[in-house]
Formats: sequence, structure tokens, C-alpha cells
Amino acid sequence: MLSAINALCLNSFLVWLSGRLCDRLLELLTDVTANAEMLKNATDAYFSLLQGFIISLDGTTQENKLRFIQNFKWTDTLQGNTPSAQQDAVFELVSMGFNVALWYTKFGSRMSGKEDITENEAKEVHRSLKTAAGIFRHLKDSYIPRLITPAEKGRDLEARVIDSYIIQCQAEAQEVTIARAVELRHNASLVAALAYETANFYQKADHILTSLEPDYTAKWRKYLQLKQCFYMAYAYCYHGQTLLASDKCGESIRSLQEAEKFYGKAEDLCKEYRQTKGPGNIAKPSEQLFFRKLGSLIRNTLEKCQRENGFIYFQKVPPEAPQLELKANYGLVEPILFEFPALHPQWSPEVYASFDLTKGPKDDKAKPKQEEEVKPMKEPDLKPQKDSGCLIS
Ligand SMILES: *[C@@H]1O[C@H](CO)[C@@H](O)[C@H](O)[C@H]1NC(C)=O
Ligand SMILES: *[C@@H]1O[C@H](CO)[C@@H](O)[C@H](O)[C@H]1NC(C)=O
Repeated sequence: MLSAINALCLNSFLVWLSGRLCDRLLELLTDVTANAEMLKNATDAYFSLLQGFIISLDGTTQENKLRFIQNFKWTDTLQGNTPSAQQDAVFELVSMGFNVALWYTKFGSRMSGKEDITENEAKEVHRSLKTAAGIFRHLKDSYIPRLITPAEKGRDLEARVIDSYIIQCQAEAQEVTIARAVELRHNASLVAALAYETANFYQKADHILTSLEPDYTAKWRKYLQLKQCFYMAYAYCYHGQTLLASDKCGESIRSLQEAEKFYGKAEDLCKEYRQTKGPGNIAKPSEQLFFRKLGSLIRNTLEKCQRENGFIYFQKVPPEAPQLELKANYGLVEPILFEFPALHPQWSPEVYASFDLTKGPKDDKAKPKQEEEVKPMKEPDLKPQKDSGCLIS
């Protein structure tokens, strides 16, 4: 068993170390050369220490006495100009977790933005987005409900915002699946079904945000809407191909006309998106090529159908667009289950007991926060103690 002195040394060491690991993780989050393995290691290291401020270490069901001793302050992705602060290690855990999840989404879109993406890269994009969705979900289900002060309306940790992020991640991962299905020339009805499900995801994510302030959601919502229209166009385009293959040329023409309509809407929304001010700049650079490709596919397929109808089928084009009642049985994306790492092995009941809170914290000597441009990156202004020794004397 550790002597009291040893436990005391270890307690200041753990506080110091968690500060270092926090800094390291924050650095990585903005480092464009970081990869998923580096991030995973840094995340595990920090969270395994931070758990010592959260989970019960004295064998009782009582709240960890270290949970509320420090103030943590984070800026918000949507309302970055007014930071949120809470004196709660759980707030730190979920805020950092949120940013780690965001990192995975950005990492995924950066990679998917490359030209000539390889199969392995496509898989990694897919995995990153599913990992992000899993982290968001875990925070929402298991940790955010534990906050003493619930997140305010429209804040990152509020249920509506988190839900939209989860669904958007699933939708974006499905985009990768669709691109792959098209490349491998999979059955058009499978592509149509996946595209339709994806459009529905975007619609759902957009719908969740309707009750939030347009000031900070307008741009994000435009993005979700343009994606929804784009994938509706996609679904009608591929559904049209399926109809043509089963000699329903009239219906096929109608389906492609519907695709054209949605494509036009998506084009308009693209323009509006670019003109809308506000946070939510998550669009992918590759979008342009992807976009144009679908446009010409719709045009060419429609022309082909009209030609064939004039020569062979002579079918009437129905006034109503065909119903897309498609259910994709394959390729739907589920979040990857996420768990926080186990408690750091240096934490023990002895170390925990050696923290003496009755003497109160020292003046916080945290270095001043670097004031940065508001970006969707958070910066805690008070990190677990630096080199000034023990946090609690
Ligand atoms: C991550 O941690 C594992 C296990 O400790 C180690 O083998 C690996 O080299 C680390 N990777 C990076 C990039 O730090
Ligand atoms: C495409 O998939 C549909 C539905 O799963 C199936 O009915 C159809 O036979 C498939 N077509 C081809 C060409 O494989």
C-alpha cells in the first residue's frame, strides 16, 4: 500500500499529467497532420485520467469529491461568441468528447474531399463518420444527462444539436456507401434506396433544427436542405433507371423529371448556402464535381428515355411522380459503439483519499486563454493544474 506521502505526490502528479494530456489533445485536434491512431491514443490517455475526477473511487455511491473543484470553459460551435462554463469535470468530459467527435467528422470530410479516393480511404472515411456518430450518441445517452446545469437551448450539448450531428454523420457515411455502390455498378434499385434513405436522414436532421434560432442555424440548415434535395434527385434518377429496365418508360420519364426538379432545387440551395452567413461551414470541397456528374446523368438518362419512348414504348407520362417507397436492406449506417477508456491505473482509493478539499484550492494560476477567432474548436480556459504543484494543497 502507498504511504500517505507517496499518495500525495501521486495526486499532484496526476493533476499535472491530466493538464499536460489535455493540452496535448487540444493541440492534436487542430493539427492537420494528425491521424486517427494518434488521436485515439491521446484521447484515451486524457480520458482515462479525467475519469478519476468523475467515477466513484472510495467504494461508495457518493459523487466523486473532485468532480466540482474546477471550472471548465468552452466556446460553442454554433454560438461561439458566448462561451459556456461549468465547474464540473463531466462538463469537461462531454465537451472534449464532443470535440473529438467533431474531429472525426472533419477528418472524414477532409479525406473524402480528395480526388481519386482509394478503397481503403473510403473505408476510413466511413469508419470516422460512424465513430463520430457513436461518440455523440454515447455522450447524449450516458453523460449529458448527468450535467447538473443542463445545456441551454441551441448549445452544442443540447439534445437537438447532438441529434442533428448524429444523423448528419450517418447520412455522410451513407454518401460514401452510395459513391461506392455507383462505382461498383451495383443494382440501380439499391442505389436509389440508399439515396432515398440518405435524403430522409438529411431531412430529419434539418427538421430537428427548426425550433432553434435561425441566427446560428441558418447556414447549417441550408447545407442539410441542399443535401436532402441532392439525394432526392439521386434517388429519382436511379429509380428512373430501374423503371426503364422493367419497360415502364412513361413512369421512368416522370421519375427523371422529378430528379431534374430536385436537382434544380439543390443548385439553388447551393447558392443560398454560400450566401448565408453563420456557423456551419461543413461542406465538402469535392461537392462540385459530384454535383455536376449527377446533373449530366439525369439529363442523359432523361433524353434516352424520351428517345426510347418515341421509338418503342409510346407510353403516357403520368402526371404524378412515382412514389419512392424504397427501403434499403443493405449498406445502412449505424454508429460505432463508443465507450470511454478504463480508469488510469495510477488512480487508486489512496490517491483519491489524499486530496484534501478542506483547505480549498490555491489561486488558479492557469495561463490566460489565447483569444482566438471563433472556430468550431473549443478551448478550456482552465486546465487541470500546471507546474505550480498541487491543485489542492
Ligand atoms: C498508440 O498506442 C499504441 C499502444 O500503446 C502504440 O503501439 C502505438 O505506437 C501508438 N501510436 C501512435 C501513433 O502514437
Ligand atoms: C435489383 O434489385 C431488385 C430488388 O432487390 C431485384 O428485384 C432485381 O432483380 C435486381 N436486379 C438486378 C439486375 O440484379
